[in-house]
Amino acid sequence: MSPVSLTNEIARLRREKNAVILAHNYQPPEVQDIADFVGDSLGLSIEAATTGADMIVFCGVHFMAETAKILSPGKTVLLPDLNAGCPMADMITAEDVQDLRRRHPEHTFLCYVNTSAAVKAQCDLCCTSANAVSMVRDIAAQGRQIVFVPDKHLAGFAADSAGCEIVAWQGFCPTHAGIAPDDILRQKRLHPNAVVLAHPECSAEVRELADEVVSTEIMCLYAHDMKAKEFIIATEPGIIHRLHKENPAKRFYPASEETLCPNMKRITLEKILLALQEERHPITLDRETMFQAKKCIRRMLEYRA
Ligand code: 13P
Ligand code: SF4
Repeated sequence: MSPVSLTNEIARLRREKNAVILAHNYQPPEVQDIADFVGDSLGLSIEAATTGADMIVFCGVHFMAETAKILSPGKTVLLPDLNAGCPMADMITAEDVQDLRRRHPEHTFLCYVNTSAAVKAQCDLCCTSANAVSMVRDIAAQGRQIVFVPDKHLAGFAADSAGCEIVAWQGFCPTHAGIAPDDILRQKRLHPNAVVLAHPECSAEVRELADEVVSTEIMCLYAHDMKAKEFIIATEPGIIHRLHKENPAKRFYPASEETLCPNMKRITLEKILLALQEERHPITLDRETMFQAKKCIRRMLEYRA
């Protein structure tokens, strides 16, 4: 099928089934272009919780589709490729959290949204990279100590920014950990006037070289609002498509072209069409996990409101 007929057929089925297509900022360009909403984990969670559609086709990775299902249990949530996982989310299990709880019974358990529903069900609240710092600051201000799972880099960034100690699980994102300080230094030499925007999943050495450390959505906001005309982008390069589209007069240089997230790139137009045609692959979760995980996610959404 030609790309045009593929896009037309997706549009027809989307109308027929009253479906909404949500895409993360790292999705391939052609997927971003047909989506109803493109955003970061926080924006996608809010969109999933508030959409009036009957069906959500989630173009992202498994934990994101699970979060959408937890927030909209009455809707059909489809992940076009079930193998689109997140290696960082897979670095911790519910049993690991139970074990940590035994060792830190008084701590507040804050999990990154990049976790399975089973892990969220064992935690007190969750956060995204957009609100991690303010949530950590707020919990610490209540005199509570924090265990943060699973990303050690986001934990380090939040602890440094909030000026408190955090017990951190030693997980990491292989994509962001693949961005080296030398990548930034090379791009800085090539583009000395460029502003460096880095994602908090990057290592501390990379974050130190950045002008701003922010979530993907705030990167889009800064790129639009800042006077600078050139930016070095230290995150998954899929976001460059949206940055170009929204700021045609500005220039964006990925810190590294090689640090792709292979899981995000599993979603294709062909798989989106199949998802709509055959309603594959629906996300299902047991009631107890949904109930417990929802409390954890809801606390984050209430916090932001
Ligand atoms: P954002 O919430 O900043 O989009 O990050 C999601 C993610 O998976 C980053 O690796
Ligand atoms: Fe997971 Fe990293 Fe891919 Fe984000 S970029 S989905 S954290 S592996």
